[in-house]
Amino acid sequence: MKANPPQLRVGIIGFGGAGVAHAGYYACVPGCVVTKIFNPKPERLEVARQLFPLADRYTTLEGFWAGLDAVSICTPDATHADYIVAALEHGLHVLSEKPLTDSEAGIRKIKRAAAAQPDRVVACLHQMRFVPLFQKVKRVLESHELGTVSYLEGYYVHNLTQRAFVNDDWRRRDNATPLVYSGCHFVDLLRWLAAEEVTEVFAAANNLAFPEYPESDLNLVTLRFQSGVLGKVVVAFGAAGPQDHSLRIYGNRRSIENNVMFNAAKGWERVLHEPILIQRALTRHPLRSSHHSALRQLRSNLPAWLLGKIFLATRWLARHPNNEYGGRYYPVRLYEHAFACVQAIEDFVGAIRERRAPLCTVDEAAKTVLACLAGVESYRTNQPVRVRRLEEVMQSVPA
Ligand SMILES: NC(=O)c1ccc[n+]([C@@H]2O[C@H](COP(=O)([O-])OP(=O)(O)OC[C@H]3O[C@@H](n4cnc5c(N)ncnc54)[C@H](O)[C@@H]3O)[C@@H](O)[C@H]2O)c1
Repeated sequence: MKANPPQLRVGIIGFGGAGVAHAGYYACVPGCVVTKIFNPKPERLEVARQLFPLADRYTTLEGFWAGLDAVSICTPDATHADYIVAALEHGLHVLSEKPLTDSEAGIRKIKRAAAAQPDRVVACLHQMRFVPLFQKVKRVLESHELGTVSYLEGYYVHNLTQRAFVNDDWRRRDNATPLVYSGCHFVDLLRWLAAEEVTEVFAAANNLAFPEYPESDLNLVTLRFQSGVLGKVVVAFGAAGPQDHSLRIYGNRRSIENNVMFNAAKGWERVLHEPILIQRALTRHPLRSSHHSALRQLRSNLPAWLLGKIFLATRWLARHPNNEYGGRYYPVRLYEHAFACVQAIEDFVGAIRERRAPLCTVDEAAKTVLACLAGVESYRTNQPVRVRRLEEVMQSVPA
């Protein structure tokens, strides 16, 4: 019989929204236990005591690192690099929240620290790569069913007006630009789906809808990939309405709009994904308030599943999607956030156990940051900006 691997003892660094989420997600991954939580603010540790009473709590790093195998870094973007370096120096595996960092200097520090500890896993939690729909889209792209792809587009629309500064005001303090802080989700997803690098960007921004957010709350960036494929990412923090994580990809044989695949002859071809009735991994979630028990999931997912089925069964009534009232848009949003995060953590843990690279490595996440930083430079200068290559960035300042 195969022996179970030893428990992976995990520490959480930063216990705001993302830290609470990570602590819950680790409990969904077999063989992981969160033993320590660090946050400089005592009131956040009081939250930790209530939610995860078995984990030891720290307001300073003294004594924190000992007895851990891995850490999750859930602190403000600008602090990720120093925590990644410190964790590696303590011989730990590291999962960093996205973006990997918010500067070229951060990238250099992280790359050098990771190179000095080649047997430690460093991964970045870009959960878009693990969203079931986007994984299916990736497989479709790999099968070349779309023909020649010319365009990819992603939307990150999330109204932050009521929550940007709730636990901490780092988004204001550090001028966390929408593009680097959140646009990185879709810049990374499009890079991964296109399987090629962004070489140039042209961006625009305004600060009209949510003027309390520093500098800009709406960022729009066009991406030029190596082969000439174009992309677009929209990030909106002040738009009224529900969250939107839409994706479009245009090929000359088939195109994808969210979960619907179209072709030139028939129009509608098939759906790539439908609501999952029970996301099994999440049923292990330890917090009752998380609504992830099988019953709670069934109660909330069944209506969406049914709506999707009814739409698919009756879509033909509206005939061709080209018609004035053609049935063209699938009615349900398909973004399994928590499930995707758990999958990302499973990949991180799998990478440690199987001694392989994670899906989102330091280099991958760093290239995403570089494309986003170029976007910020572009909207500030109102000029197209060439994306700096990782090798260039590493060589530009001596070690
Ligand atoms: N993957 C996702 O979808 C997702 C979602 C939300 C946030 N994030 C990322 O997670 C990270 C944290 O975001 P959040 O929403 O949890 O923010 P938050 O404001 O809710 O929490 C930040 C926490 O970090 C603590 N903190 C501040 N400065 C610190 C420091 N120097 N050292 C240690 N702790 C410090 C604060 O006290 C607070 O508890 C950010 O990098 C953000 O981009 C990712």
